[in-house]
Amino acid sequence: SDPKEQVSMSVHGGLFISVEGIDGVGKSTQISALVEHLTAAGREVVHTFEPGGTELGQEIRHLLLHRKGDVAPRAEALLYAADRAHHVATKIRPALERGAVVVTDRYLDSSVAYQGAGRALDSAEVRALSMFAVENLLPDLTVLLDLPAEQALARRAKTGQEPDRLEREKVEFFEAVRQAYLEMAAREPERWLVIDASASIEVMQEQIRDRVKQLLAR
Ligand code: TYD
Repeated sequence: SDPKEQVSMSVHGGLFISVEGIDGVGKSTQISALVEHLTAAGREVVHTFEPGGTELGQEIRHLLLHRKGDVAPRAEALLYAADRAHHVATKIRPALERGAVVVTDRYLDSSVAYQGAGRALDSAEVRALSMFAVENLLPDLTVLLDLPAEQALARRAKTGQEPDRLEREKVEFFEAVRQAYLEMAAREPERWLVIDASASIEVMQEQIRDRVKQLLAR
């Protein structure tokens, strides 16, 4: 990527970390442990998430996840982008300007992976929409917790029943999202840290802390 398009640490003074991955890879466990670790080290940490990291965002989240009936793909992409624009303007950017560490559970790469890969919108257009929304603010580090879709979904499943047609479609959808993430990580290795999410909680956390430590020492 063009380094000029990114708003870097030298501009905002804080550290901006996003955590990505398909549903069921263990993002929240890793985020909580990282936030606890950095807080114990005396850092100001803002732990947040998308969609819904602000009051307005909660209303948008409700529209996206709990409303009955379909939302047109472009409308859906715009709602995620609207949530993100408000999140960055009112919570993330002010925190970074104070010098805080911001850890967000999902950010713009979720839109590229889910709306772009999964729902047949053009990935570059989805990314451009988010870049407009956030005035080009990219994370300093994006942690991808990577697991094959079948394994991630199995972790979430309640019973050991045979998968039905709907569940198989779900596996295909999440596998496409996973591949989109892996392609983004390969294209921009300096921003991404790819973690094998079949490893133990402790091993994964150690890898994340190592990279964050390097960034904080810069
Ligand atoms: P999340 O609250 O992280 O749910 P979970 O804990 O189950 O992973 O995200 C809700 C859903 O929203 C998740 O399936 C991913 C999806 N999503 C998008 O499709 N696009 C986006 O831009 C974001 C942020 C999330």
